[in-house]
Amino acid sequence: MARLSLALLATLGTQALALTISRRTPISSIAAAEWDAFNATVSGRLRNGEPMLAPCYTHYNGEAQKPDQAQCANLQKNGGDLTFATGQFGYYMQSQWGACQTTGDSCTFGAIRPDLLTPILDKCEQGSVPTKYVEVRSVEDVQRTMVFAGENNLRLVIKNTGHDYQGRSSAPDSLALWMHNLQPAIELNKDFIPDGCSESSGDSITFGAGAQFESIYQFVEARGYRIVGGSAVTVGAAGGWITGGGHSILSNELGLGVDNVQQLKAVLPNGKHVTANRCQNQDLFFALRGGGGGTFGVITEMTSRVYPKKETQFVQMLFTNLLPVQQRRLMDILVENAEKWAEDGWGGYINSFSLGTQIFIATPLLTHDEAVESMKPLAKFATVFNLGIVKVSTTENFREGLEGFVQTEELGISPGSAWALSSRIVKRESFAADKREQLSNIMSDFLNVQQNPLEGSLQILSICLTMPTIYSKNMPESDLPGGPGHAAIAPHWRDAIWQVLHFRSYDGSIDNPEVVTKIAQRAHDVMEPLRAFTPGSGAYINEADPWEPDHINSFWGQENYARLLKIKREVDPNNLLMVHKGVGWDENDGRFSCYPDVQQ
Ligand SMILES: Cc1cc2nc3c(=O)[nH]c(=O)nc-3n(C[C@H](O)[C@H](O)[C@H](O)COP(=O)(O)OP(=O)(O)OC[C@H]3O[C@@H](n4cnc5c(N)ncnc54)[C@H](O)[C@@H]3O)c2cc1C
Ligand SMILES: *[C@@H]1O[C@H](CO)[C@@H](O)[C@H](O)[C@H]1NC(C)=O
Repeated sequence: MARLSLALLATLGTQALALTISRRTPISSIAAAEWDAFNATVSGRLRNGEPMLAPCYTHYNGEAQKPDQAQCANLQKNGGDLTFATGQFGYYMQSQWGACQTTGDSCTFGAIRPDLLTPILDKCEQGSVPTKYVEVRSVEDVQRTMVFAGENNLRLVIKNTGHDYQGRSSAPDSLALWMHNLQPAIELNKDFIPDGCSESSGDSITFGAGAQFESIYQFVEARGYRIVGGSAVTVGAAGGWITGGGHSILSNELGLGVDNVQQLKAVLPNGKHVTANRCQNQDLFFALRGGGGGTFGVITEMTSRVYPKKETQFVQMLFTNLLPVQQRRLMDILVENAEKWAEDGWGGYINSFSLGTQIFIATPLLTHDEAVESMKPLAKFATVFNLGIVKVSTTENFREGLEGFVQTEELGISPGSAWALSSRIVKRESFAADKREQLSNIMSDFLNVQQNPLEGSLQILSICLTMPTIYSKNMPESDLPGGPGHAAIAPHWRDAIWQVLHFRSYDGSIDNPEVVTKIAQRAHDVMEPLRAFTPGSGAYINEADPWEPDHINSFWGQENYARLLKIKREVDPNNLLMVHKGVGWDENDGRFSCYPDVQQ
């Protein structure tokens, strides 16, 4: 008996090993005739993947080519327009994720446009841009591609907009599903009843995998609604955003993206198209909401709650040329008032850099006068130091209120910009009166870090007030642990007041592996004091760096993780879908060979 179970264990052990050490078949070893046959099954929508800027270069993948002047001029002109760029398969918002950071193979420009020199002086290499992709227009395209990739043991990537900070929508030597064009018309469903449920879960909208927040905001606002959504209007709602958690300026009152989802449809690795909601396939519903991008299935459709429009108060403020003593005083005020402001419903962003601070926050829970009152500590600071007047503006139109933020955000992102970052969620307990000074010290130290140009040209400390503070206190029972609507995000989100982000931007033409690794390492290390100050908390999976220490507790917590692992083994026994760096599900398939070697 004992012997038998030992043998059984040994067999199971070997199987587990076979799962982790999977080697992928190189894309180049699939014969042209096979590609053609596959292409026919996806209605001719198989394409060769090219870095977006390839047409500008005189050399591409080791061969001389004649640049396409017209196309290149268009890319030089519009490449910084995020709506245009996210509509290009070969575009990655953090340009390093389109490159191979360990070899230096890349195809980017410098950050200053037009950049006429780099395409002549440098060569364009494939980097991590998938070798081939299917431009998905139907559920069948997804199903056939997954079956083909599975049968041939190819490395499969799911790409939507290319916003990802962890490089999860690219991989060297891979076949990609490009979800961007799966954009059926958005539908409004009043009193939506999820499939298989008997009761309505409220007014909702349904949209496809490729929908970006701009079109979603336009749709709901025209119909008198608002919705929980990202602040960058080019982020994809049904891809990385929802599979990671999804925070919004409205999350304080209305919850995270995952709290608002009523239904998801997804293709599983076995090719089945399934519906997941609070009444059926609850395991999948759980895993797809927070388990991580592109890991459990390919989402084809999402249905999310909408709410009637409501007057919302916005504050937009830029303090420039702040002296260190002023930055410090401002940080003290932010720390002292953090809990109070969260209770007042404020959400948004406070971004500090060496010389100034930008504030962009909003609350739907206060009247104009109450908002002015709530902002008094900030107004007083501005008056004392003669820094201007803190103005509260009021609008019902969330997208319109967001405009100022969208504009400043677009400034910093061009096809030549690379961003390394790290994240930490700061819970309520860290704002206790006896901890404030230390928290303020740690936050201020982010800004005192020496600015070495070779470690990133611009450093930003971003405080996201986009936490579900008020919502989490009144969670519906169905969504608590054990309920059918529980989501896979870590428990610390529910006690969170801030998410702190550290960004380092650097010129995308920097591709020297040593330099790139150093920048990523510094971005990772700078978060260490705040990590130490907030034990038992974690990071946002979508805004963490790929080397997040103790990632299981940080992203999910042990209980959620155990459930996720079980679900993963059930739906994807052959590890067809990508997994996160560090999770250990598929460390050895070469997908991460282009990630810089950062030490945790
Ligand atoms: C400028 C900027 C602003 C941001 N603002 C916010 C914000 O306000 N709130 C917030 O929560 N986050 C924000 N983020 C982070 C954002 O949530 C992540 O970058 C997210 O991964 C983007 O998802 P995507 O689908 O648009 O991008 P992609 O890079 O295309 O995909 C990201 C991940 O999702 C997977 N994926 C894509 N489509 C599917 C699909 N159909 N099914 C399954 N998996 C899929 C990919 O495989 C990959 O793992 C921001 C990021 C940037 C760069
Ligand atoms: C797939 O087929 C279409 C239509 O025949 C063709 O235009 C396209 O080039 C093919 N894709 C590849 C990668 O060969």
